[in-house]
Amino acid sequence: MMKYPLSDKYHTPELLSKMTGPNPLKLEEELLSKHHIPEGGIVCDLGSGNGLTSVFLAKEYGFQVYAADLLSNPEENRSFFTRMGLTEQQIIPVKADAFSLPFEEEFFDAIISTDSYKSFGRDPSFLDEKLLPFVKPGGYLYIAIPGMKKDLHDALPDELLLSWSPEQLDNIHDLGYWADVVIQSKGAEIVMISEMQSHEAAWSDWLEQENESAANDRLAIEAGGGKHLNSIEIIMRKKDWFGEGVHFDESIHDIACEYSI
Ligand SMILES: C[S@@+](CC[C@H](N)C(=O)[O-])C[C@H]1O[C@@H](n2cnc3c(N)ncnc32)[C@H](O)[C@@H]1O
Repeated sequence: MMKYPLSDKYHTPELLSKMTGPNPLKLEEELLSKHHIPEGGIVCDLGSGNGLTSVFLAKEYGFQVYAADLLSNPEENRSFFTRMGLTEQQIIPVKADAFSLPFEEEFFDAIISTDSYKSFGRDPSFLDEKLLPFVKPGGYLYIAIPGMKKDLHDALPDELLLSWSPEQLDNIHDLGYWADVVIQSKGAEIVMISEMQSHEAAWSDWLEQENESAANDRLAIEAGGGKHLNSIEIIMRKKDWFGEGVHFDESIHDIACEYSI
């Protein structure tokens, strides 16, 4: 069974109330368990929401974090970061749209995105055109997204529709769908794409929350909808200057290719 020594430090009612979905810290702790980001590296927490994951990345991993989000209030996030004892050198809130990021090219050692990539990353061209330009050659993408064990969009189960509309569920897909999207990248290679072990624990923390959004999500899960869902991690590395990229596991290539159209 997975242990969460880092995320457990954040298991307080005040901090957990910042969650907007399945505990993103547990997902991130798994996602980064063998990360390749240099010490003190500059990272973008893309779709950072209320900034909980950004604080986690700054405090637990020592990264310099740009907390980039389209809808959340950067000033509210800034005061949260200050309350958490972080300086403006350690963590920088930025109002930003993933489709037009306001950063210099090749700025980040890594872009990390938890429970957000589903909203902007489904078009295969997004990765090469909108995201990779901001990553250093050889830098990484670490992505965790809510997924479906098997795409069921032709006949959505009633229990899922208790909580989510077909439009919302259109952001939730299976591993094959996502493999198909990211394998089309010319600028980055897949290091890993897989189901996450922290899925159950992350959902359990979320469903215990007393807020409208968690209450809404409980409807589907209590009706048995959880059996259709999983969490998916995608780790990619931007190819180096010579376009050669790193050696990557052929078996991953084969798995991803099986799903190609
Ligand atoms: C479910 S929240 C996840 C927040 C945070 N990563 C976490 O796990 O707690 C999704 C976030 O994605 C952000 N988002 C959606 N579309 C975006 C876009 N085009 N550019 C930047 N952020 C976006 C939303 O504002 C929202 O805060």
